[in-house]
Amino acid sequence: MAYYRTPHDVTTLPAWQALEAHRKAMQHFSMREAFNEDPQRFSEFTLSSAGLFLDYSKNLITTETRKLLVNLANEVGLKDAIKAQYDGELVNASEGRPALHTALRRPVGDKLQVNGVNVMPEVHKVLNQMTDLVGRIHDGLWRGYTEKPITDIVNIGIGGSFLGPELVSEALLSYAQKGVRCHYLANIDGTELHELTSKLRAETTLFIVSSKTFTTLETLKNATAARAWYLAQGGSQAELHRHFIAVSSNNAAAVAFGIREENIFPMWDWVGGRYSLWSAIGLPIALAIGMSNFKELLSGAYTMDQHFQNADFDKNMPVLLGLLGVWYGNFWGAQSHAILPYDHYLRNITKHLQQLDMESNGKSVRQDGVPVNVDTGPVIWGGVGANGQHAYHQLLHQGTLLIPADFIVPIVSFNPVSDHHQWLYANCLSQSQALMQGKTRAEAEAELRAKGMPEAEVQRVAPHKVIPGNRPSNTIVVERISPRRLGALVAMYEHKVFVQSVVWGTNAFDQWGVELGKELGKGVYSRLVGTEETAAEDASTQGLIDYFRGRHRG
Ligand code: F6P
Repeated sequence: MAYYRTPHDVTTLPAWQALEAHRKAMQHFSMREAFNEDPQRFSEFTLSSAGLFLDYSKNLITTETRKLLVNLANEVGLKDAIKAQYDGELVNASEGRPALHTALRRPVGDKLQVNGVNVMPEVHKVLNQMTDLVGRIHDGLWRGYTEKPITDIVNIGIGGSFLGPELVSEALLSYAQKGVRCHYLANIDGTELHELTSKLRAETTLFIVSSKTFTTLETLKNATAARAWYLAQGGSQAELHRHFIAVSSNNAAAVAFGIREENIFPMWDWVGGRYSLWSAIGLPIALAIGMSNFKELLSGAYTMDQHFQNADFDKNMPVLLGLLGVWYGNFWGAQSHAILPYDHYLRNITKHLQQLDMESNGKSVRQDGVPVNVDTGPVIWGGVGANGQHAYHQLLHQGTLLIPADFIVPIVSFNPVSDHHQWLYANCLSQSQALMQGKTRAEAEAELRAKGMPEAEVQRVAPHKVIPGNRPSNTIVVERISPRRLGALVAMYEHKVFVQSVVWGTNAFDQWGVELGKELGKGVYSRLVGTEETAAEDASTQGLIDYFRGRHRG
């Protein structure tokens, strides 16, 4: 299969080498001084688009850094790569597929040929199919086996068939439609199924088996167990179609499971799992917030798509965020990146971005199979603020690692309580300020002396109070979380990930690394249950199998 473009050795590019030299020149760069010296720094390094405001002024950068990073984007051919992705070229070379999540957000009337077929009518046909189902459920016309309306939706899916829908439907809880609750069943851990079904009534529950491949072990096991639960609760095989629908590109397997063909919502192989919340995989979102809000979500993402494609790189949010990640990962040795949403409704964004970023950019070879010679995707981690401030922020402030962070915060709260939101916003800002500013030894000593501490004590305690500062962060401010702005936010991160893959020459759209564990899992399982007599490949695995079997016998 041909590559959509020839990958490069990025380290040989003039812009890369210029960045290496620039990095040396930046060794003693101080953000604190840069802010003191340049009153324009904030306006120089901020921009707005698609309802998002990005402040990237608290970074280890000058206008020269930005220029060199943009040169790098130009030298790796980012403009052409974006066009190739949007036009449906085979940007997923190892699987010989396009990656067309952007097509899912395009308006009616647009045309996009994939293998000689305009896919846009099909995309909008599925949206209409979703509109019909959502309408029937919300209007109480879709009924369970006792003729009662559906009150609970359970999405059975994992990875991309779970994380994106869960993030969005929970982030947009303020837009939730009355009368329908959405739940998620992802893990094969029976406790999850047990805890969930104990709250539900089969007669008013609709299960969506959400699996692009319809081969994913966890999802199939859960779907089978949910079907058994439904039958045990009094549901019949004949009425199963009222309670089980599917989203999948594997029609035959969904039919074999017992789902009626007309209740299978199609997926396409040109949509990757972690990019699929915009497709029928987003059904639980649409059921939670209604179809017009779902379309607003798509429209927000489309606005970001347009921005990504058309804005100059030095004013382009996903491009700048992607390049800043390259700057820290490849030139400053950063190995992780923190995502810190200061909003309860966005608490799941870190989990979604973990899959999006780490499954996309956790690669060691380029599109042509040649090993990369630079570090690729960072570890993505984090969690909701202000909780993190009382847990892991200590390491951000005083640890030895450089960890860039994205703070995400809305201006307006849906649930104002006294002055809580002002405090939440203040906490967010003061964290990025503390990371940037730090506290010098002289400041620490002066602070202690001002408290009347004896000089010997001052000298003993001061080193512990020094905070290095100069730690980079971006702040993304959203006026108020809405379907449109959330769509733009998630799309922004999708494009950021793509930018980085283009710089490294890797494929952001395959995930072969997850396969080995799945294959080995079958062997381990057979040995656990005794259908395989031969020993496992290594003594540790065999020892742990024996331990399990011994305990189960006893
Ligand atoms: O195992 C990883 C993965 O393939 C993800 O890429 C995907 O999002 C997830 O499993 C679920 O896949 P499916 O939708 O095919 O069940």
